[in-house]
This record gives sequence, C-alpha cells and structure tokens, in this order.
Amino acid sequence: MSADASQKVMVASAQACSNIALVKYWGKRDVALNLPVSGSLSIALEALSTRTRMEFNADLTQDTLALGGAAPVAAPARVSTCLDLLRAQAGVRWRARIDSVNNFPTGAGLASSASGYAALVLAAAAALGLPQDRRALSRIARQGSGSAARSIFGGFVEMTAGVRSDGEDAVARPLLEPAAWPLEVVVAITAQEAKAVGSGAGMEISRRTSPFYAAWLAAGEDDLAAARAAVLARDFAALSRVSEHSCLKMHGVMLSSEPALVYWNGATVAAIQRIRALREQQGLAVFFTVDAGPQVKAICGPGAAGAVAQALRAVAGVQAVTMSGLGEGARLLASEADA
Ligand code: DP6
Repeated sequence: MSADASQKVMVASAQACSNIALVKYWGKRDVALNLPVSGSLSIALEALSTRTRMEFNADLTQDTLALGGAAPVAAPARVSTCLDLLRAQAGVRWRARIDSVNNFPTGAGLASSASGYAALVLAAAAALGLPQDRRALSRIARQGSGSAARSIFGGFVEMTAGVRSDGEDAVARPLLEPAAWPLEVVVAITAQEAKAVGSGAGMEISRRTSPFYAAWLAAGEDDLAAARAAVLARDFAALSRVSEHSCLKMHGVMLSSEPALVYWNGATVAAIQRIRALREQQGLAVFFTVDAGPQVKAICGPGAAGAVAQALRAVAGVQAVTMSGLGEGARLLASEADA
C-alpha cells in the first residue's frame, strides 16, 4: 500500500494467474452469494495472467474499471460487491479506480474473470491496509466469480462447495505446489468471439432444465476425491480418467439443457479426437478438458507438451496454440511500475 502526502489516495498492484478446472463445477447453490453447488479442482496457468492496479481515491464518486488501457467504464456490480466487502472491513468508503490488463484475449473462454477477480481482491486488500489472509481473499474473490476463488492459490487447487448458508466455508485451498508436479498445458484456440451464454446464466439454465443435472451433482464428490488422490499420488493416468469424465459429463448436462448449451465447434471436437489419438495410439501423456467455450486445453505430462502443440497446430480449425506451465498464486507487485 502507498498513500500520498494528503492521504487521499491508497494504491497497490497485484498479479494473478488464470486457472482451468480438471474437476468442474457447473451450478450454484446460492446465486446471490455466488456459491458453487459442488467442489472443483483446478490448475493455475502461468502464461495467462492479469495485472491490476487499484487506487482508492477520496475524490471518486463511483468505482471504475479500465481494461487493457481502454477508457474507464462503471465497474460491474460484482466488482463493487467484492470491493464493498473489503471497504467495510477497512472502514473506508472511498471509491476505486481499477486498471487491469490481461496478457491474453478477454472473453474467449480463457477464464479472464478468475485471474481478474483474484488480482483485484489481493490488490484492493493491500491498498486498504488489510491483512492478506488467503482464505479470506478466496472467499471474497468467489463473490466476483466462482473460479476466481481458486486463482488466489497456485499449482493444484481444490475448491470446497461448503454447506453453510452464509458461504463462509466455500473457499479454495492449495493441494500441491507447481514444482511438485510440473505438468504443462497446451491451449488450442478454435474461435475468438465471446461466448453466447455466460457461465452463470448457463448454470441456471442447466439447473432448471437438464434431466442429467441431478446425476451430475451426485457424482461430484466421488470425482473430486478421485482427482485429489490422483494429484497427491501424481498419478497422471488416474487424473486423465477422472478429468475427461468430469468434463464430458458437464458438457452432457449443457447439451441436455433447454435451450441446449452447445459451446463446442467442429475444431473443438477435432482437437479432442486428436488428443485421444495421441494418448491411445502414440502413448503420449496427455488428456483434454473444455470449459464453457470452444477452446480445448491439453494437459500434458512432463516432456509431452512440444509434440502435443505441434499436433494441435495441424488440426483444421485450430487458429492458435498457447503453451503454459503451472502458475503460482496471486502476488503483490512491488511497485506501480510493475503493474
Ligand atoms: C465451466 O466460476 O467462471 O469453467 O461465478 O458465474 O463467474 P461465475 O462462473 P465461473 O464458472 C466456471 C465454470 C467452468 C467450470 C469450472 O471452472 O469449475
């Protein structure tokens, strides 16, 4: 935190990595508090990150957000919800100016909300002079976006759905440091445009209409336990099985919703088929996952990413390929010059 001589400005900057879930959640148990209906398990992606500079200023009349150097606009309601929680703790009423930059395309199914809200709450807590308790920050980031609760931490992360109606127990926790099992991820971009139905709205459609929704929820705890055990044992084959199954079950729920949520395109399917062939016919340590969008993420065992990237670049309809190692948790940036 830094304050100018007249104490009318409080500033801090932070960076957070995006993450992808290997065991997915798809559904909320409380929409207002943004509580996930089931737990999830994710990995942080080093190459996809957000840097955010927070400035609380006595002269501002509303929270504003400038994304990627664009002109500031009124901050989304969920941003102000997160900031209000922190302002209440700090006893500060000042509004904030937020400058945020992603090093990857926004809204193309690469989870910018996860890294965005994680960087936001860490920078805001620091600017307000609050203790940076990770568990508490995870809970606040969750109110911005469910997946953001996981981006507070690095490496392999588990998010618990919790049972309390106030959501105090719906937080993420770190499972394994990135260096302990240095998997790599190859992201195949198959479309650039933002998705037609956002995650939150899509989850509600599925909850109300999919005949598979109850079965999906019933299997969630077992999937989570299997994935947690696979991560702790560094068992790539076991993690592959449970992750692909979780992903395909979630898309089964999406496809069976009314109206149907079809997030895939032809290249999504082609990339999935290629990844399965690389594993089953060429013996490469790789499996796929796909979120609420058309991009395919190939999770690779140590040493496999180069061959996987080369194969995915050759799939018709794949527009670009990005590679990433596993990332660390959200961190403060030492000076504004870093932001
Ligand atoms: C398919 O957590 O991004 O990526 O809380 O409404 O912002 P909001 O949703 P979000 O949804 C993530 C859905 C998912 C699965 C997952 O990350 O577990």
